[in-house]
Amino acid sequence: MSLELDGVERAYGDATALRGIDLTVRDGEFFTLVGPSGCGKTTTLRCIAGLEAPDAGAVRFDGTDVSGVPPEKRNVGVVFQEYALFPTMTVRENVAYGLQFDPPEGGSVDTRVDEMLALVDLGEMGERNPDALSGGQRQRVALARALAPAPDVLLLDEPLSALDARLRDELRLELKRVQRELGVTTVYVTHDQAEALAVSDRLAVLHDGRVEQDGEPESVYESPETRFVAEFLGENNCLDGRAVGGETGGSTVHVGSEAFDVHGDYRGPVTCCVRPESLDVNATHNRFEARVTDAEFLGDAYRVHFDWNGRPLVARLNDAPTGRVTLGFDPVDAVVLERRGSDSGRDADSE
Ligand SMILES: Nc1ncnc2c1ncn2[C@@H]1O[C@H](COP(=O)(O)OP(=O)(O)OP(=O)(O)O)[C@@H](O)[C@H]1O
Ligand SMILES: [Mg+2]
Repeated sequence: MSLELDGVERAYGDATALRGIDLTVRDGEFFTLVGPSGCGKTTTLRCIAGLEAPDAGAVRFDGTDVSGVPPEKRNVGVVFQEYALFPTMTVRENVAYGLQFDPPEGGSVDTRVDEMLALVDLGEMGERNPDALSGGQRQRVALARALAPAPDVLLLDEPLSALDARLRDELRLELKRVQRELGVTTVYVTHDQAEALAVSDRLAVLHDGRVEQDGEPESVYESPETRFVAEFLGENNCLDGRAVGGETGGSTVHVGSEAFDVHGDYRGPVTCCVRPESLDVNATHNRFEARVTDAEFLGDAYRVHFDWNGRPLVARLNDAPTGRVTLGFDPVDAVVLERRGSDSGRDADSE
């Protein structure tokens, strides 16, 4: 089942939650909506589920407009952030609950519940009550319950956020495995950018009720189109400056008293974005001196914070240097964003 949202708008009184959401989720895809709190992720999910009616725009399932189709007729499974299991029912009864309106074709409810519990690795836990389960196990029951009626679309709203970090990592792998095994079209909501990058076939970055950018995780990470995406999805050093043409195929970006070579032809106000992993003490290009202010040990590397003429910078390095350090970066590793409109007025760095 493919999904399409076309100019979906939704306001609550004078609070506008969605300002025109356009996106396409392909059949069988694991698609993630990622963005900060309040950007409209849950509202988008509710519009897909039919729990919310858009004020404008259309939601289409396999090309067919589903406005007017009630939630229970959309064949959508939903897992919300709170597990919302029935505390007085056993695990089996919880999973079977989803089947009472929609018994499995050609099989018994019992068989289907067994299959689902096996799928989420809870085969032994069927007779327990939810309060005798860990948070991760409860979340898996909620997933099994949503999947039991064999939905065409699975909607997951921050299903792992109540869990501790290690369990979250484990469970998201499992979620991905289950999703792939069933091939169910899935829309996953998270505000955790690392999680979004890790699990998604494709993702959309939402900002203030709009899709700011969508695509495969690698391509959105490597080629952000706006400063918001550059800074939200992974860490970034975004330096405002002014570009002048350079040799063929390149430009020079002036930031403060430094001049950096970058690829591509740019003129005027720009933001030069360099990832922490692209800053290197051994780089042969674009070298400049900065002062170490702090270092955090990450296990496999250090996250080193710098002050560069009053600007904070962060680098991912193999060692934790102190004092003044020369950093540099390869011109290919800089992403240059043109600044337009009101942005270009605030061009303090280029003087
Ligand atoms: N029932 C409602 N009544 C009024 N305003 C609402 C309602 N539901 C959502 N909003 C507003 O719409 C905007 C989008 O809300 P939404 O719940 O979709 O955000 P979200 O991206 O899911 O955020 P979070 O990450 O915090 O869950 C917010 O500004 C929110 O305050
Ligand atoms: Mg939400």
